[in-house]
Amino acid sequence: MNITSFKKKKVASEKIVMVTCYDAPSAAIVEKSKVDCILVGDSVAMVVHGHPNTTYATMDLMVLHTQAVARKIQTKFIVADMPFLSYRVSLEDTMRNVGRLIQAGAHAIKLEGCTGNLDSIKHIVDSGVPVMGHLGLTPQSINQLGGNKVQGRTKELADLLLEQALLLEKAGAFSLVLECVPSSIAEKISQQLSIPTIVIGAGPHTDGQVLVFHDLLGLQNDFSPKFLKRYHNAEADFIKALNQYSLDVIDVNFPELDKHSYN
Ligand code: KIV
Repeated sequence: MNITSFKKKKVASEKIVMVTCYDAPSAAIVEKSKVDCILVGDSVAMVVHGHPNTTYATMDLMVLHTQAVARKIQTKFIVADMPFLSYRVSLEDTMRNVGRLIQAGAHAIKLEGCTGNLDSIKHIVDSGVPVMGHLGLTPQSINQLGGNKVQGRTKELADLLLEQALLLEKAGAFSLVLECVPSSIAEKISQQLSIPTIVIGAGPHTDGQVLVFHDLLGLQNDFSPKFLKRYHNAEADFIKALNQYSLDVIDVNFPELDKHSYN
């Protein structure tokens, strides 16, 4: 998968499959899967570091996780999130931060929102770095949005989403994440854009889907939004394995003298 595959897949009506990934062992697993592309999402701040929202992600954190993922990836396209305010202070600051993520191993960057970002997006794209847009629920604006709510529910807001999606496409974005918007709106936007939409919580009539690695594998089951489908209950399997290990140590069934010990 490379940058040219995104449009080709849209034209061929082939779905794009994306998953978040934050560390080397997970990346090694994703590399062996049929998933097309990886998002080193700023959700790492919540999922891995236990913060309450993504505003806690920093450039240093994103660089560290992007490097870890990139070390284990040979065939997948890696998009790294520009964290909170890392692209809003000045163009100079934005470009330095973009450079850090690309040098960490990302093939593209993602940033949230439209208003105030279009000139930066144009400049980043003109500098040779693919940009993925992100509209709908933009978690870095959680304090402005008043929580993780479905976006674009009124006609005016839905029209605004479409208008912004078209502006992002015009500015040079190669694809667009739509998060938590009604499926009819996501469908309409997907039809009107020539770049693919990759969505989370925005229905099936789009060009692709993205889910958080830990959510889809059931590695942490305390987050259960309506849009999520769990494909595994890793938490239960892990607990079972850990309990068996505990029992084996207590009962002196592990380590076995011949199998797991040196003489
Ligand atoms: O950081 C993230 O995980 C994301 C996805 C929800 C699209 O931005």
